[in-house]
Amino acid sequence: MADGYSFVVVANRLPVDRTTDEHGETQWTRSPGGLVSALEPIVRSSGGAWVGWTGAPDDDTGPVQIDGIHLRPVPLSAEDVDRYYEGQSNSTVWPLFHDLVEQPVYRRDWRQAYEEVNRRFAHAAADVAAEGASVWVHDYQLLLVPAMLRRLRPDLRIGFFLHIPFPPVELFMQLPRRAELLRGLLGADLVGFQRPLAAQNFLQLTDRLLGLRPSGDSVVYEDRTVVARAFPISIDITEIDRLAASPEVQEAAGRLRSELGGDRRMLLGVDRLDYTKGIEQRVEAFGELLSEGAVSSDEVVLVQVATPSRMRVAQYQQLRERVEREVGRINGEFGEVGTMPVHYLFQNRSREELVALYLATDVMLVTPLRDGMNLVAKEFVAARRDALGALVLSEFTGAAAELDEAFLTNPHDVEDLKRAILAALASPPADRTTRMRTMRARIQSHDVDQWAREFLDALGVPVHQ
Ligand code: ADP
Ligand code: F6P
Repeated sequence: MADGYSFVVVANRLPVDRTTDEHGETQWTRSPGGLVSALEPIVRSSGGAWVGWTGAPDDDTGPVQIDGIHLRPVPLSAEDVDRYYEGQSNSTVWPLFHDLVEQPVYRRDWRQAYEEVNRRFAHAAADVAAEGASVWVHDYQLLLVPAMLRRLRPDLRIGFFLHIPFPPVELFMQLPRRAELLRGLLGADLVGFQRPLAAQNFLQLTDRLLGLRPSGDSVVYEDRTVVARAFPISIDITEIDRLAASPEVQEAAGRLRSELGGDRRMLLGVDRLDYTKGIEQRVEAFGELLSEGAVSSDEVVLVQVATPSRMRVAQYQQLRERVEREVGRINGEFGEVGTMPVHYLFQNRSREELVALYLATDVMLVTPLRDGMNLVAKEFVAARRDALGALVLSEFTGAAAELDEAFLTNPHDVEDLKRAILAALASPPADRTTRMRTMRARIQSHDVDQWAREFLDALGVPVHQ
């Protein structure tokens, strides 16, 4: 403990996943999702430690140094993965915190595993943190960790950031052992959220569940002040800008355009295959536009990149089946040899390829039914140095609060989604450029470094960058 790290990130996943290739060699690949995209550059530049899971069950990999980050793996057995990760985290908390887009499942054995695994993470963090260190715990998989860690190491400064929405009080009240989860978060000195409304929900809950008396943005709990505030997350703008400026990426974008058919307008979706992302609604809206003759497959093509995600969870498997059936139906009905209306890629893509897709597209479709922030929307805007390209953006994303020059839509209403897509396709280039320039100016003044700096400043931590 004495020579531990002065800055420690604790998240369910390490920034890299460990896999074994066909020759038995270990491979480390970037983990999926916005949390890793946002935090990896910060921990790398501050020489900190990262406590998390390698993404493989029954993996006993020891501590390892990769790209300037000390990685401290937390092992999960296959049963832990089933109960803590796929169960309590992704079949209970995830759907509940996303406004019940799918029905949460409540199970005692999952809750127990969640508590055990949270304790394991807390011990691992206590083990690598130096005396008086700052520990930054992340996301809904680890709601109990702040209080557990405080009991183990009262000397630490503890921050917690929730990357997903925090639900209104009535929804949170559904959770079995809800007060314990809330006390878990109250172990932190600072609890950060994507949106001010989420911080308000949290503070109201402390009153309703524990009878505390929040005042302004803080609440006193066990003789400590806990601050709850919004810190909207952002992206590594320099990285996206560098990729967007690279001749190789620009050539790849040009090739994509010509392969899709030079004159066709391109619509693009890039998401984890998750029911919160509104992929199904987006594909359905496009199918209706084709069948109504509002667009034709000679003129418009939809490219949907869907990263495989949580594929052992039934709701994700069912979503995949529904999306793939609908894509097949649309292509069968409206396609010609050589001109399929929907190109669906159920694949992970490199950062370079993603940026090439962002550059190639005419209209980016970001249509979640609910999303804490949505980094894809911000990445798209950051990539468009040419100030061209339109963004169709769901009102139910955190990003919509900052990007209100996008073509905003309510994706729960397919008619409204169709209206927004048509408006984006029909908007004159000058209008699109004005919107894009305004959005670019806004995100450029607030990148992920600044986000981290603001959070760590509020936590009272010196930022080493
Ligand atoms: P979430 O955290 O829910 O997955 P975000 O939009 O906030 O959603 O973040 C997603 C991150 O994952 C972005 O940085 C995006 O570039 C990356 N990403 C999304 N889809 C893919 C893909 N198919 N291949 C590689 N990276 C992806
Ligand atoms: O905040 C979104 C998030 O759930 C992160 O916590 C997570 O790392 C990412 O999406 C990807 O999900 P998963 O780790 O379940 O593949």
